[in-house]
Amino acid sequence: GKVHIIDHPLIQHKITYIRDKNTGTKEFRELVDEVATLMAFEITRDMPLKEIEVETPVSKATSKVLAGKKIGIVPILRAGIGMVDGILKLIPAAKVGHVGLYRDPETLLPVEYYLKLPSDIQDRFFIIVDPMLATGGTAVEAIHSLKKRGAKQMKLMCLIAAPEGIKAIQDAHPDVDIYVAGVDERLNEKGYIVPGLGDAGDRLFG
Ligand code: PRP
Repeated sequence: GKVHIIDHPLIQHKITYIRDKNTGTKEFRELVDEVATLMAFEITRDMPLKEIEVETPVSKATSKVLAGKKIGIVPILRAGIGMVDGILKLIPAAKVGHVGLYRDPETLLPVEYYLKLPSDIQDRFFIIVDPMLATGGTAVEAIHSLKKRGAKQMKLMCLIAAPEGIKAIQDAHPDVDIYVAGVDERLNEKGYIVPGLGDAGDRLFG
């Protein structure tokens, strides 16, 4: 899918402080929440609209409202949880599913340990969220899990990605667009994004 780099100045500014190792847990959470809201503004840009009639104080008018497409936000546990509230600020009616995956520290391969999705999976538009796309193994597997249960339309939203992760998604799931605030240089030997932001799950939750 297409890679959308959301590099609005406000996002770049906040991402810099998210990267900073001197940023403590409270501020880190707030920044992740804020960037998620700002990115949600962009990820919803192509939401379908319909026309309705309204009466302004001056005259009748035809004006647009959201066509009411069902949205599902799916954070990848744990770190994805940190982005959910920020998105819900813009899409308060969205349902939230959860997919739990961790990387085996030895093999770095993703292991699914939890999955719960909202109803109407087939008609729902899913936004899968995770602060980091490193090797891409986790997100590739999360998307597989959703597709296996019948999900047809989805986007992936991450704060920071490595080129390897983007390529992994594009190879495994060419139908899924990726929204990311920054694409970093590379992965290190432990599979961490360099320069990245460290372990987002640990920085959010300890
Ligand atoms: C991190 C991150 C992603 C994954 C990215 O989660 O939040 O889910 O690693 O790595 P990948 O692209 O190479 O698969 P982690 O395994 O640390 O779990 P946690 O969120 O529970 O801390």
